[in-house]
Amino acid sequence: MPDDSRVSRPNDLEAFWMPYTDNRYFKANPRLLARAEGMSYFTPEGREVLDATAGLWCCNAGHGRRQITEAIQRQAGILDFAPTFNLGHPLAFEAAARVAEMTPAGLDRVFFTNSGSESADTALKIALAYHRARGQAQRVRLIGRERGYHGVGFGGMSVGGIGGNRKQFGAMLPYTDHLPHTHLPDQNRFTRGQPEHGAALADKLEDLVTLHGADTIAAVMVEPMAGSTGVLVPPKGYLNRLRAICDKYGILLIYDEVITGFGRLGTAFAADRLGVVPDIMTMAKGLTNAAVPMGAVVTSNGIYDTIVDASPAGIELFHGYTYSGHPLASAAAIATLDLHRAEDLPGRAAAMEPYWQGAIHALHDAPGVVDVRDLGLVGAVELAPRAGAPGARAMEVFRRCFDRGVLVRVTGDIIAMSPPLIVENHHVDRIVETLREAVGAVA
Ligand SMILES: Cc1ncc(COP(=O)(O)O)c(C=O)c1O
Repeated sequence: MPDDSRVSRPNDLEAFWMPYTDNRYFKANPRLLARAEGMSYFTPEGREVLDATAGLWCCNAGHGRRQITEAIQRQAGILDFAPTFNLGHPLAFEAAARVAEMTPAGLDRVFFTNSGSESADTALKIALAYHRARGQAQRVRLIGRERGYHGVGFGGMSVGGIGGNRKQFGAMLPYTDHLPHTHLPDQNRFTRGQPEHGAALADKLEDLVTLHGADTIAAVMVEPMAGSTGVLVPPKGYLNRLRAICDKYGILLIYDEVITGFGRLGTAFAADRLGVVPDIMTMAKGLTNAAVPMGAVVTSNGIYDTIVDASPAGIELFHGYTYSGHPLASAAAIATLDLHRAEDLPGRAAAMEPYWQGAIHALHDAPGVVDVRDLGLVGAVELAPRAGAPGARAMEVFRRCFDRGVLVRVTGDIIAMSPPLIVENHHVDRIVETLREAVGAVA
């Protein structure tokens, strides 16, 4: 008898150690997605699930876009891989130029990575290299913010401010500190768009300057709108104050635009919508519509020039990934940015925002709802936690919505939503009706 005990089976769930997942629960209660098209996923049984989260905040142009998949297929037949260390291939340069066209004026130098986490660590390293290049090697401190999420690398994790994301690992980077988060529920509950209260929280950066000395601080990194920790919308004026304090002390301002980039807030980037431009921005997700992994860091021309000019002949920045500017990712990025232009996806998001805002705020009186907030095509519905079981209620809502055909996202007791930018009114209605039913049922 042949021993088939080591033969893998297609529906064996054991080997895959799933990321950010309750593996034991999932493997006992799997929820699988097999196909996607437009606004929807489909389960292996063919059941439709409306995607209210654009995958993981990333499929901004909707799923299965033919222009993107064909560009990837075509490129795979032409050039599967080429190094970008001391060599190049045309699509990587074209993709970089296209990204630079989309970012705010003066932010024109594009370093490619493969993910948001790699972009965060790359941005932090560029900030350190920049200060060294201009003779300020003592500027090593990196300031983040409570409830900030910058991925899972040691840099992003240390600058990020999520306890659960750090406490399992112990060792964090030294020389970091954190601003307070900007979430003030008592003052700003049920605000539509940017809240009125909280700009002064940016002044806490002055306290960190007093504490550590401005000449030890390299950079401040924030999400212009924090997504992963539950949609924390920046108070009016907050980012302007942060920018002013950074300028006063020669500190670089880094935006993590991994979620907010590529039309999510109704403009190309959050920097455009919020009117405050950073020195460095990170991005990923929507860059390729998530069809091939790719991230990028875009810096001011001055940062690039400073690092390159200060370096003797040879490699100027000792940093890079085998897959930086990968041909398939570059092809996907160019096709995605074509779609953004052809369909004006940021403009579509802006046009949908009032309907979206009105629809989700109508949930303010649903049982257990303690806050609703939004910006662009992002929305959050926060529930009162169940006594002794934080997060349990929202997780039940997530499961109930999924079983009734709508995919939402959960973080703590917050339901977060970020539909593809091609969403239409009837999709919004279905999302909100399903959520209302689920919130009522688990109350
Ligand atoms: C703001 C932000 N930065 C970084 C990341 C990490 O990106 P990735 O999971 O691609 O490493 C995320 C992921 O959600 C994010 O939301």
